[in-house]
Amino acid sequence: MRAEFLQLIKKVVPIMHPMLNIAVKAARRAGNLIHRSADKIDLLTITKKSHADFVSEVDLAAEQTIIQTLLDAYPDHAILAEESGSQGESEFLWIIDPLDGTTNFLHGFPQYSVSIALQHRGIVTQAVIYDPTKNELFTATRGRGAFLNDRRLRVTKRIHLADSLIGTGFPYTRFEHMDAYIGIFKDLMQKTSGLRRPGSAALDLAWMAAGRYDGFFETGLKPWDIAAGTLLITEAGGMVSDLHGSDTFMKTGHICAGNPDIHTQLLQVIAPHLTPGLKG
Ligand code: IPD
Ligand code: CA
Ligand code: CA
Repeated sequence: MRAEFLQLIKKVVPIMHPMLNIAVKAARRAGNLIHRSADKIDLLTITKKSHADFVSEVDLAAEQTIIQTLLDAYPDHAILAEESGSQGESEFLWIIDPLDGTTNFLHGFPQYSVSIALQHRGIVTQAVIYDPTKNELFTATRGRGAFLNDRRLRVTKRIHLADSLIGTGFPYTRFEHMDAYIGIFKDLMQKTSGLRRPGSAALDLAWMAAGRYDGFFETGLKPWDIAAGTLLITEAGGMVSDLHGSDTFMKTGHICAGNPDIHTQLLQVIAPHLTPGLKG
């Protein structure tokens, strides 16, 4: 009787994988720190990394909080984090963007997130994206589905590109793919219901998984921008590829995602604009 009851509870309230649980703890700690700092932006120390690319003391502190929380639980695991780079060697690799959407954060524009993924032997198995401004927690474990807080996520069912809402990000630090990007953008302006560029790629991918977009594309992203979001999308029934339909997106950073119908149609629109550099 007790065993049956436990089985039933497991079905109704899926039990969180222990590694995901730690990632959630880390993401919430970082998110709270970011949230507390959001009303004192003017007092923060900000450094320019390169053209239009800034890092604040909040990015650095959030990253240290995340790393500390993960390594306290799993001291042997390896880390790849945006601000401090790589540390350790292990078949388990945590990929961290402590604050995705720094430009938004520094302008008080409430669209930014914490992104944490765990890769095991090169495959993303756990994902957390946390939006501290809305207290929205997106999570996924490979094979166990994607969730927003406690709600199971599915990508949209829209089948016509003309009805679709597409997310994207503009190139703003490196411009070698700008002409191709603008060509794709121009076509999609005419072939979709709308394009959005909110400014946190990790959150864009989480929103794609949550059915707030039908598709997404961007060029030149980094592993920490996309590792968690791509697992959320596939666990929500969506497709993720690079811009020509292959799986090199973690290496190239060029990414196209969508529900299965819209993903195919996006790739068709993108194809005539592909330069050798965008083929990866
Ligand atoms: C940036 C955001 C943005 C995307 C940029 C990323 P950061 O991350 O995800 O949406 O367009 O390419 O670099 O620098 O704010 O962590
Ligand atoms: Ca980022
Ligand atoms: Ca960042």
